[in-house]
Amino acid sequence: MADIAAAKKPIAGLQGVVVADSEISYVDGQAGKLVYRGYSIEDLAANSTFEETTKLLLDGALPSRSELDQFEAELSGARVLDSEIIDLIRAYPTDAQPMAVLRTAVSALGLFDPDSEDIGPDATRRKAIRLVAKFPVIVAAFERHRNGHDPIDPRDDLAHAANFLYMLTGSDPDPEDARVMDVCLILHAEHGMNASTFSARVTAATLSDIHSAVTSAIGTLKGALHGGANQEVMKMLLEIDQRGIEPADFVRAMLDRKERVMGFGHRVYKTMDPRAPILRRFSRDLTARAGQQKWFTISEQILETMAAEKGIDPNVDFFSASTYHALGIPADLFTPIFAISRVSGWSTHVEAQYRHNRLIRPRANYVGPRDLTYVPIEKR
Ligand code: SDX
Repeated sequence: MADIAAAKKPIAGLQGVVVADSEISYVDGQAGKLVYRGYSIEDLAANSTFEETTKLLLDGALPSRSELDQFEAELSGARVLDSEIIDLIRAYPTDAQPMAVLRTAVSALGLFDPDSEDIGPDATRRKAIRLVAKFPVIVAAFERHRNGHDPIDPRDDLAHAANFLYMLTGSDPDPEDARVMDVCLILHAEHGMNASTFSARVTAATLSDIHSAVTSAIGTLKGALHGGANQEVMKMLLEIDQRGIEPADFVRAMLDRKERVMGFGHRVYKTMDPRAPILRRFSRDLTARAGQQKWFTISEQILETMAAEKGIDPNVDFFSASTYHALGIPADLFTPIFAISRVSGWSTHVEAQYRHNRLIRPRANYVGPRDLTYVPIEKR
């Protein structure tokens, strides 16, 4: 059979395989640089907001003041959840995994979206704005539900990150906390052809709708090797602290067992993930301010051990764990925060896929048996 002769060796994990040209972001694995639409992540983290960065990703250019004002008004107007969605969240088990809740609620959003089956550019943009607006409201509503409280409505006078912190507790967020969360959302918004973005593009490439594509992406981000790592990092920090183990000994034991230390390593970055130093400063400052320096100290000792033993650097998920913990956020909400941010990147990639679409359909080498003859069940 001709295919056997043409069989190529599979590329495990599609490592290094280029599947598209993209103007959205550049992940420079050798230099450890990240660029959104031509702007460095450091420049955006220092000067932009999540709303402005989302508009930059979607449109490919920094918005004017009036364009940003309009976009912020559109987000604000789209935040309120339909009562049916709130009723659904109220019916979810209080011990449900928050990423599974988000995946389920976002899928349900599609049922109530007036543009749900329209994959045209205008309808897709309208839906993208609704998704960006509603993600934090869903996560906060479930947090309130599982603690026996009613959801807190978003406020028109608070920006995206501040609104999220407000909806979790009902208290006005500390401005410094709100700015840290805003920068964390900027840092997590986009990252090229990562697994969850690729998942969204595969779904969109069949000409399915953006709710389906984003639901695929949420399910993909949930995994511990991807967005789920930040929650696993916090579990590791807590275990080290509670058992009173030297962090270096804990890590070396993991490495001896050939286990992956969560928050370290990356498929593309072969040097420090450029997002990590920014999050490292947040972890240092916020844990100190909260009187919880131990989480930063333990993290630093893990970092030193991983460098010495494996020469592997932290990725975006490592210091975000102690940063979010110092903000008082439960560990199982860390990955939903990643999703609250990355829905901007996913939406941008879905629009890009539609614009220059071709069905994404790779091949596999068939290595199973051939030319077998069916045997009736009585004779098996
Ligand atoms: C994100 O792709 C993106 O852009 C993702 C992301 C984004 O913004 O979208 O950046 C977000 O997902 C960051 C990654 C979060 N995941 C984790 O922190 C999980 C722990 N990391 C590893 O599982 C791993 O580093 C991956 C999955 C991230 C990447 O793995 P690869 O590219 O498949 O590399 P590999 O597993 O084949 O490891 C190569 C070598 C191995 O050594 P050998 O066995 O060949 O001797 O490096 C070692 C591994 O043992 N290694 C690790 C390690 N990561 C790699 N050893 C211990 N701990 C680790 N974390």
